[in-house]
Amino acid sequence: MSPSRIVHVDGAYLPEEEAKVSVFDRGFLMADAVYEVTSVLGGRLIDFPGHAARLARSLAELDMESPVSEAELLAIHRELVRLNGIDEGLVYLQISRGNPGDRDFAFPDPKAVKGTIVLFTQSKPGLADNPAAKAGLKVISIPDIRWGRRDIKTVQLLYPSMGKMMARKAGADDAWFTEEGGVVTEGTSNNAWIVTGGRIVTRHLSRDILHGITRAAVLRFAREAQMAVEERPFTVEEARAADEAFVTSASAFVLPVVEIDGAPVGNGRPGPVATRLREIYIEESRRAAI
Ligand code: PDD
Repeated sequence: MSPSRIVHVDGAYLPEEEAKVSVFDRGFLMADAVYEVTSVLGGRLIDFPGHAARLARSLAELDMESPVSEAELLAIHRELVRLNGIDEGLVYLQISRGNPGDRDFAFPDPKAVKGTIVLFTQSKPGLADNPAAKAGLKVISIPDIRWGRRDIKTVQLLYPSMGKMMARKAGADDAWFTEEGGVVTEGTSNNAWIVTGGRIVTRHLSRDILHGITRAAVLRFAREAQMAVEERPFTVEEARAADEAFVTSASAFVLPVVEIDGAPVGNGRPGPVATRLREIYIEESRRAAI
C-alpha cells in the first residue's frame, strides 16, 4: 500500500484518513462545487495563474466566494507538492458552497456559511512520458446531454464518467461529446482537435465547452510556431476524414487520437503535428512552471 497522503481541508494539513467533510456539504449533496486540476512537472506547477483565473471565473458565475486568496492558493498547492514529494503528478482542488447544516435547495447566506476547500495530490510518475502519446487514443462519439454551462468547471461529472464507461465497453479509451449533426463539443475530460487541410482546428469558446487552460497554451504555441489555426466547430465525419486528431488537458497534455468510432484517423498512427505540439507544450510548460 502506498503511504498515506497529506491533504488540505479548510486550512488544515492532515493525513488523508483524518480529513473530513460534513454529510451536509453542498458539494456532496448538490454537486454545488467547482474544481481545478493543475499538473506538476519536476515538482513545479504548470500554468497555475491560468487555473487560478478560471477558478475565480467559475466561482463568480455561481455567486460563490473563494475562502482563500490566489496567493494562499498557490502557497497551499506548493506546500502539498512539497509534503507529498510530488515530482510528476497532479494537484486537485475543490471549493464547494460549504455546509449549511441541513439539506436545502436555496443557497445559504455566504456571510454565514463559508465554502469548503479541499486539495489533494496525485503522484503520477511518467506523466510526461505517457505511453499513450506513442500508441494514440481510440475514441467513440456519444450525444452531449450535459447541462448548458460547460464553461463552468463544476464537479457534476456523472455523465462524463458514464461516457468513459461507454468508451471502455466499446473497447475504446475515451468519448467525444457530439450535438445535432455530429458536431463535436469536447472530450469527457479534454478539448478536442483535428488537423485538416494544413490547419489545426478546435472548437471556438462559448458556454458549450470548458475553456481549457491547456487548449489556450497549445493555441498560443501553435501560433508562435507559425502553424495555421482555426477556432470553429467540426463534425465527427470531418474528424474521421482529417489527417490527425488529438486532445488536450492538464492531465493528458497533448495526446493523439488514432481512431474514432472504430475507423482510423489518417494512417491510424499518431501524427506529426500532435507529436510536435506535445513536445513543445511539455518543453515550454516545464520552462514556465512555478
Ligand atoms: N479535465 N473539457 C473538459 C470537459 C474537462 O473536464 C477538461 C479538464 C478539459 C481540459 O481543460 P484543461 O486543459 O484546463 O485541463 C476540457 C480535468 C483535467 C479533469 O477533470 O481531470
